[in-house]
Amino acid sequence: MEQKLVEIKNKALQDIEKVKSRHDLERFRIKYLGRKGELVRTLKVISDLPISQKRTVGKLANETKKILEDVFAKKKKSFSDSGSKLFIDLTQPGVRQDLGHLHLVTQAIREIEKVFLSLGFVRRRYPEVETDYYAFESLNMPPGHPARDEWETFFIEKPDSKSNLVLTPHTSSGQVREMEQHPLPIRMMNISKCYRRQINVSHTPMFHQFEGLVVDSGIQFVHLKGVLEYFCRAFFGAKRKIRLRPFHFRFTEPSFEVDVTCGLCGGKGCRYCKEGWSELGGAGMVHPKVLEAGGLDPDKITGFAFGWGVERCYLMKEGLLIPDLRMFFQNDLRFLNQF
Ligand code: FA5
Repeated sequence: MEQKLVEIKNKALQDIEKVKSRHDLERFRIKYLGRKGELVRTLKVISDLPISQKRTVGKLANETKKILEDVFAKKKKSFSDSGSKLFIDLTQPGVRQDLGHLHLVTQAIREIEKVFLSLGFVRRRYPEVETDYYAFESLNMPPGHPARDEWETFFIEKPDSKSNLVLTPHTSSGQVREMEQHPLPIRMMNISKCYRRQINVSHTPMFHQFEGLVVDSGIQFVHLKGVLEYFCRAFFGAKRKIRLRPFHFRFTEPSFEVDVTCGLCGGKGCRYCKEGWSELGGAGMVHPKVLEAGGLDPDKITGFAFGWGVERCYLMKEGLLIPDLRMFFQNDLRFLNQF
């Protein structure tokens, strides 16, 4: 029995020298110190020995166990000191990492931007906290004009400010800023947050618009129509129809609203669209007074502009069935993770 213990110890001391990885070390532990290891198997027999041998063999067994535990611990420490890699069991199932992704509004903005950049538009950003002048007055809506009412505006009280400030209700507030700051030809794509006192299935108090403005000599209505149709085909697909409805905006003449056949009900009429068409936004030829406000001569220069809702457009995309525009901003991961 003593002989057997000495053999185990000598073999183990030889084996520990051959251990080169944590994997080897684990095998060593199982072989010598594990519950079914060589040492434990040998120790189990001690109880059957005659009393005279029990004491010496037991002592030797304990010493052997201590030696093996010490060399094991020493080796283990040498691995952690040298920073050696952990043993990886490649057969273990992996732990899935949660990956984030862009919010669907950002995805929509990037998609819209790509279409217009390919047409030669330049991306701009103008202030969301805007002066009354750029949001209304420069757009042919003088103070007190009733046309201002329809913008459902949030006003900002700032007693020390000379100009009245608003949270811009539309991206058209960038039109005159663009004309003031950039030479012709202008091909602006202003995508920004807008704010209005509205909330229901197709309106949120904060939403995004994308505003196109093209100004140069010789710009005509046909250019506007071409750009809108190109965008709709690229964004919604060739099957969908758009229509232009005569409308009135103070800053364009003539003015239109543009509708697309509803992607939710296929044009039959539903809770969201009501009559089979969904409004995307407004468009028209830039009003002479707006060109003048931008320092341009309306007898020589013309332009077109359009301003559409990003969320409304995305909601009308082929194959998407988002029944309520408010879902974009409720931050429910069960919804957002689907995009
Ligand atoms: C305008 O805001 C004009 N500035 C558009 C324009 C630009 C006309 C240039 C002519 C020339 P309107 O109020 O219709 O127009 O808004 C345009 C679009 O913004 C709407 O059709 C809709 O798609 C989106 N929109 C408006 N209000 C909200 C809202 N509360 N929530 C979500 N989308 C909205």
